[in-house]
Amino acid sequence: MIHRLLLATLPLLLSIPLAAQHEATQGDVDDGRRLYISNCALCHGPEGGSVPGVELGHGKFLRASNDEGLKTIILKGIAGSAMPPHTFTDFQAGTVVAYLRYMAASSTDATAVRGNAASGKAIFEGKGNCTSCHRVRGSGSRVAPELTDIGTIRRSVELQRSLLEPDAEVLPQNRYFRVTTKDGTTITGRLLNQDAFTVQLLDLKEQLVTFSRSDLTKSAFLDRSPMPSYKDKLSAPELSDLVSYLVSLKGIVYQ
Ligand code: HEC
Ligand code: HEC
Repeated sequence: MIHRLLLATLPLLLSIPLAAQHEATQGDVDDGRRLYISNCALCHGPEGGSVPGVELGHGKFLRASNDEGLKTIILKGIAGSAMPPHTFTDFQAGTVVAYLRYMAASSTDATAVRGNAASGKAIFEGKGNCTSCHRVRGSGSRVAPELTDIGTIRRSVELQRSLLEPDAEVLPQNRYFRVTTKDGTTITGRLLNQDAFTVQLLDLKEQLVTFSRSDLTKSAFLDRSPMPSYKDKLSAPELSDLVSYLVSLKGIVYQ
């Protein structure tokens, strides 16, 4: 009798931890990405392949066989190696794991980066006219995010997507701000600062402009990217040259 009762409840007991497991949401992946970029990318690189012998971006790990194992490595580090412990909460470690899983699911065969970075640089400064908005190592415009170290914080798939579908993902800090003044003029630019009384923008001509809030009828972030898509403007080989160039931008190297 007792046996039968146990057998009957066993599957129930087993199913509880599964049901209680937290399914990773897009929000978890985004949080995990932020933690990864600021804590892990320095050593492991944006693609997860910068530590020799370790591939964090492909879902196969030498030292962990499941998510719990990965969390333990992240929290405790690996004794006797350069892999440090991290003071994350268990939940934060879980978001980093969710991001590692997302990386594996969205990894590509890296054909995008087999282009020629030198040709990519020529396209960036010439045909692509990227410097009319972006700045790299001191040359170009400031109206769009500086790209001098974009290769240390973005994966090649993300860079490629920025060129093909700029609207697919606009990072909160990269959104443009638009104000409408009482006389009906609209001005778009990067938001530099705002407080209860004023709004400061760097407009598309790289001029610093300050508005009194009392002179504005509207002010809001734009969801869409002002960046054009290059899907039909550049050929596939040109795009992969350009991505290779962006991947090579790893900050200013002092010698
Ligand atoms: C200071 C450099 C450094 C930082 C920062 C760092 N790691 Fe590591 N990590 C390493 C090294 C080196 C190894 C290889 C250790 C070994 O196997 O001997 C490693 C190994 C790992 C492993 C085991 C890989 C496997 O195949 O089993 C995982 C998982 C990992 N790191 C994840 C992370 C995550 C996630 C972060 C950020 C939260 C991070 N690391 C931050 C240097 C670092
Ligand atoms: C009309 C201005 C404009 C032009 C021209 C332009 N961009 Fe952009 N770009 C932006 C703006 C604004 C953003 C930030 C909003 C966003 O993420 O879409 C951006 C975002 C990006 C990002 C993502 C940055 C990040 O932090 O994730 C990359 C990469 C990029 N641009 C590359 C290029 C390249 C390469 C070219 C030339 C082929 C180019 N852009 C041309 C305005 C421009």
